[in-house]
Amino acid sequence: MKDLTRRKWLQNSLLASSAFLISGSQTLLADTKLKSDSTNNGLIRLNWNENPYGPSPRAIQAVNDVIVNSNRYPDALIAELKELLASDHGLQKINFLITAGSTEVLSLLGQHVGLMNGEILTPYPSFPTMLRFGETCGASIRKVDLTVDHKIDLKAVLDAISEKTELIFICNPNNPTSTEVDHEELVSFCKSVPSEVLICVDEAYIEYSKNGLKGSMAPYVDEMSNLVICRTFSKAYGMAGLRIGYAISHSDNIVAMAIRHPGWELSTGVAPVAAALASYNDVGFLNKCISKNEEGRQIVYDAMDRWGIGYSPSSTNFIYVESSRFQKDVVSKLRKENVLITKWPDMKDHIRISIGKPDEMRIFVNRIEQYVIG
Ligand SMILES: Cc1ncc(COP(=O)(O)O)c(C=O)c1O
Repeated sequence: MKDLTRRKWLQNSLLASSAFLISGSQTLLADTKLKSDSTNNGLIRLNWNENPYGPSPRAIQAVNDVIVNSNRYPDALIAELKELLASDHGLQKINFLITAGSTEVLSLLGQHVGLMNGEILTPYPSFPTMLRFGETCGASIRKVDLTVDHKIDLKAVLDAISEKTELIFICNPNNPTSTEVDHEELVSFCKSVPSEVLICVDEAYIEYSKNGLKGSMAPYVDEMSNLVICRTFSKAYGMAGLRIGYAISHSDNIVAMAIRHPGWELSTGVAPVAAALASYNDVGFLNKCISKNEEGRQIVYDAMDRWGIGYSPSSTNFIYVESSRFQKDVVSKLRKENVLITKWPDMKDHIRISIGKPDEMRIFVNRIEQYVIG
């Protein structure tokens, strides 16, 4: 990463935090006020792509066991987690940065580009967190349309690289469209990007995708020093409320991010790290979550097929559904009935439905049916 002046850093950090207070936290508070649980009180949360089955029993046990050690900083546990991740990926500990959710990695990268007044190139629609952080810090955002079937158009992204491009954001599988790009095509795309342009591949949903972790770009981080991978325990591992994620990258990038990390690599806590250590290799639990997700997804597919409503085949725990055959205010109407789904302003013709438990998906289908038109 290029260097920054201290004054500019301060100016931009203040801007970034006030913008977040205005936009991000109000949304958080609005939802929290409703009710906090997906099943209690009848609230069905299909809006934030949470895993309704997690955390794994092993993670819960680990949290219970470790909580007594919360008087200590999590440095030793973080080192242990890096060791585990490094040996699983055939990499070194220095290739990993452990964060309080992958949001921290996205924000660090967004701020980095912003502080250089550079450009973030992104297929769109896609996950906006990095773009927002980048923009509030001075980055310009260049959006590239998806293909007609809502996939990332790698060729168009490559063609859009300019002198100003500092970073390319590739969310694979993509949120909100739930589609994934072919692994070989992504590898060859990354190899074609000039080495001075950073590429962030956000793999938040990779465990749910067709090839699972085999489709990850992680094996290429030593070969491609401009590659930063984001991963999270919030989705397939069911630990969104514990706040833990990580970056995988060339050691130079990890060091550069660690220097700017607001928590000096200690923003996460002993409980999330212990839970991550305990659940990382709980393959049985992970596979159960993935297959239950497929069951829930099928319930939505069947309903949409029955009503003749289009959707993108999903590689994730959410579905991108065409909205033209639903009443315009379907999102707010469902909200009044304690069912939360998502429509970002930029998702003009679609709604996004997270996959809950099969019973929740049946209730969802039942409630949304009254708003189907035509
Ligand atoms: C694509 C993507 N990346 C990153 C995140 C952030 O997740 P977390 O900060 O919980 O790791 C999300 C959350 O929904 C996401 O959809």
